Amino acid sequence: MPPASAAAPPARVLVVGSGGREHALAWAIARSPAVERVVVAPGNGGTADEAKCLNADVGATDVDGLVALAAAHDVDLVVVGPEDSLAAGTADALAAAGRAVFGPTRAAAQIESSKRWSRAFMARHGIPHPRFVDTHDLDLALEAVDDIATGGGTHPDRGCVVKADGLAAGKGVVVCDSVDDGRAAVRSILLDGRFGAAGASVVVEERMTGPELSVMAVTDGTRYRLLPPAQDHKRVGDGDRGPNTGGMGAYAPAPIATPALLAHVEATIIAPTLAGLRAEGVPFVGCLYAGLMLTPADDATAGTPRTGAVDGVVPKVVEFNARFGDPETQVQLPLVASDVAVLLAAAAAGDVTAAPFALAPGAAACVVLAAAGYPGPVASGALLAGLEAAARPGVTVFHAGTARAADGALVARGGRVLGVTCAAADLAAAVDGAYAAIGTERGGVGFDGMHYRRDIARRALGPAATPAGRP
Ligand code: GLY
Repeated sequence: MPPASAAAPPARVLVVGSGGREHALAWAIARSPAVERVVVAPGNGGTADEAKCLNADVGATDVDGLVALAAAHDVDLVVVGPEDSLAAGTADALAAAGRAVFGPTRAAAQIESSKRWSRAFMARHGIPHPRFVDTHDLDLALEAVDDIATGGGTHPDRGCVVKADGLAAGKGVVVCDSVDDGRAAVRSILLDGRFGAAGASVVVEERMTGPELSVMAVTDGTRYRLLPPAQDHKRVGDGDRGPNTGGMGAYAPAPIATPALLAHVEATIIAPTLAGLRAEGVPFVGCLYAGLMLTPADDATAGTPRTGAVDGVVPKVVEFNARFGDPETQVQLPLVASDVAVLLAAAAAGDVTAAPFALAPGAAACVVLAAAGYPGPVASGALLAGLEAAARPGVTVFHAGTARAADGALVARGGRVLGVTCAAADLAAAVDGAYAAIGTERGGVGFDGMHYRRDIARRALGPAATPAGRP
């Protein structure tokens, strides 16, 4: 039984967004015995068919429309998925209208929506980060590229990272291999307006090396619960080749995240970040997503500030996100054994520890099926086939860019179309299960022109792993 101080379990919940993350949230929330109805705005072809769920044709950044929708359904809880919705002030407006909201205010969401604000915050609070320079001045930015890429001339050209300050649909980060690339990125953002107003200023950063790790804290602003640590696959192609995407697959828990490493991340990153946000008067209620680089402990550039190493690495923040990850949510929520709706309601009500919290044993893997051309422009309309593959043990097919055509058929309508997720006793079995559910020639799910990575979780399982469905 939850303690007496726990928020009442929510009966009606509004989930804001339309991606695989929001399908996973709606799916997990709908599993709560307390929940009678989940309204998803605007949702997708999968959320429309999910038990207890209903799509509403209100966009994720239509703040007034969302306030009216929450009132029309008298929802007990709103869960905001996407960053642009948070940056538009959705959480503020819904809270002002008296709704319980899981998702940070616009001010707290700056930790994601302004890369300048976020890096300056980390510097103020001693949260481990790479060297950076933020500026709107072209000459200063070009100088920063030279200086940061070469350590002020102390090492060979290692390239750098150039980030547009504002939100740019996940595309505002340019990883540059050299000074020349860095200078070109700066010019394209500041001179040519590659990211529009989001690129009015840039942050030029050291290019860190090491494996990446995503650590998510479901938090009431002070206390928190960690979801299973995950690894994403951001590049479009196998072997981490090709352009960046929103994420082509994920797995959890990531074996690299030992208990010692996670404890270090909590002590040096999660807890001081939440404390810093509280101290600055912008407490963060929602999912704090710490995107980390596990930099080598012997790298001379590591440690700004020096926080000590654990397991031979120094975890440093690549970026914070103010929300659940996508596709990470699709592997994390199937591993939460306790009631997700009650957990999020407790965080929104001010005490996340008032809700039961338990993780399931085992692991989960998700393979994203993307439309031809993704991450560039894609054509819509491919017919989705084999969705009954979702009926296989442990497998759930989360929808992202899908919709019902006029004739009722489910079709692709976006870049990332489906996330084929499998939860199983261990990571190898989860990966096997996900790949086995892909491909209409095997009775699995698919659509014309789809492409997907064949190496999800290979870095954790080792190069010898050749699960079913991989080439
Ligand atoms: N998978 C990366 C993100 O959610 O930002």
